[in-house]
Amino acid sequence: MKIEEHKSLKNYNTFGIECAARFFVSISSKSELIIALKSKVHQNIFILGGGSNMLLTKDIDALVIHINFKGIKIISEDEHHVTLSAMGGENWPDFVQYCIKNNYGGVENLSLIPGNVGTAPIQNIGAYGVELKDVFESCKAISLTDLSEKEFSNSDCQFAYRNSILKNELKRKYIITEVVFKLTKNNHKKNIDYGAIQEQLSNSDILNPSLKDISEAVIKIRQSKLPDPNIIGNSGSFFKNPIISKKLFNKFIKQYPNAPYYTISDDEMKIPAGWLIEHAGFKGKRYGDAGVHEKQALVLVNYGNASGNEILELSKKIQNKVEKLFGITISSEVNII
Ligand code: EPU
Repeated sequence: MKIEEHKSLKNYNTFGIECAARFFVSISSKSELIIALKSKVHQNIFILGGGSNMLLTKDIDALVIHINFKGIKIISEDEHHVTLSAMGGENWPDFVQYCIKNNYGGVENLSLIPGNVGTAPIQNIGAYGVELKDVFESCKAISLTDLSEKEFSNSDCQFAYRNSILKNELKRKYIITEVVFKLTKNNHKKNIDYGAIQEQLSNSDILNPSLKDISEAVIKIRQSKLPDPNIIGNSGSFFKNPIISKKLFNKFIKQYPNAPYYTISDDEMKIPAGWLIEHAGFKGKRYGDAGVHEKQALVLVNYGNASGNEILELSKKIQNKVEKLFGITISSEVNII
C-alpha cells in the first residue's frame, strides 16, 4: 500500500478528465482500508470506485482511496438459488460475466454497465427492465465517521429509480466493501420484453434465449448506442429521465404527440431525456472536445481533452434549452465533483 502525491486521475474516471488527487492510495483489502482511513495524511477522504459515474471539475484536495479489493464467493445455495458475495472493487461487467459463465440468472440485462460492484447500489444501476435492487440481498459498508461495519438490507437501501439512501442522507458516509446477491440457478426469470432486446434476439433467430444469449444481445445493443469509455470518455447517461406531473405531461403531449413516455403512476409520467435533448437540437453536437453523443443524446462525451468544466457548461446549456422549450427540468445522473 503506497500513498502517492499529486496523482493524475485521468485513468481513474471514465470521462477521462485530467484532474489530480492531493494524495492517492489504492486499497486491496479491508485491513488496508482501515489503515488508510486512520492514516490522517489529510483531513478529507474521497472514495473512488470505478470512476464511472462522476464528472471531475477540479483537483481533489483529499486522500483519494481507490477501492480495489476483489473476490467472489458463494455464501449459500440450494437447488434453485445461489447467494453470492462480491467484493466492492470487483469490476461490474466482469462480475456479470462470472454469473453468466456459472449460469446464475438475474444480472444478464445489466451486462457491460461500466463501474464497480461496490458503487452499483449507490445509484441502483439499471438497464433493459432490470435494476440492481431486483437481485440485491444486502451489503456491508464501513462508516467513515467511526470506522464501524454496518450491514444494509435491501429495504435499508431505500432503492428507487437511479437512487438509494447512499446517494442521499448517507452520501459519502459509508464505503461499500461487499455486496451480496441472490441469483437463480434454474427457472430463470428472463426479462426480454424490452423492444430492443426482442429485436436483437429475433435478428439472431433465438426463440428461447439462454442467459448468455440475453447478455450478448444487451452487449450488442449497448455497443451500437453507447460509446465505449476506453475509446471516447463518457459516464453513460449524464441525465436522469425526468418524472413529471400528469398536468405538465398532458400539456407536453398535446404539443408533441409523437414523444415517447412511460407511465409511472396515476399522476406521474416519465419522459426520455434523450428524446428531449435530441429535439432541442443537441444530438451529435460538439463544442471543442465536449460533445453530445451522436447515437444517444443522453450521453455527454469527452473527445479527448475537454475539462470537467467544459462538460459541465455543456450540460447547463442543454438543461436551459430543454427547460425553455418543453418546460421540463432535467437533472444530472452523474455526481459533479
Ligand atoms: N431517444 C431519442 N433520442 C436519443 C436517445 C433516446 O429520441 O438520442 C428515445 C428513444 O427513441 C426511446 C427513448 O428515448 O424512445 C428511450 O431510449 P433508450 O431505450 O435508449 O433508453 P434511455 O431511457 O435513453 C435508459 C437508461 C440507460 C439504459 C437504457 C436501457 C437512464 C437515465 N438511462 O436510457 O442507462 O441503458 O435506458 O434500459 O435511465 C446509464 O445509466 O448510464 C444508461 C446508459
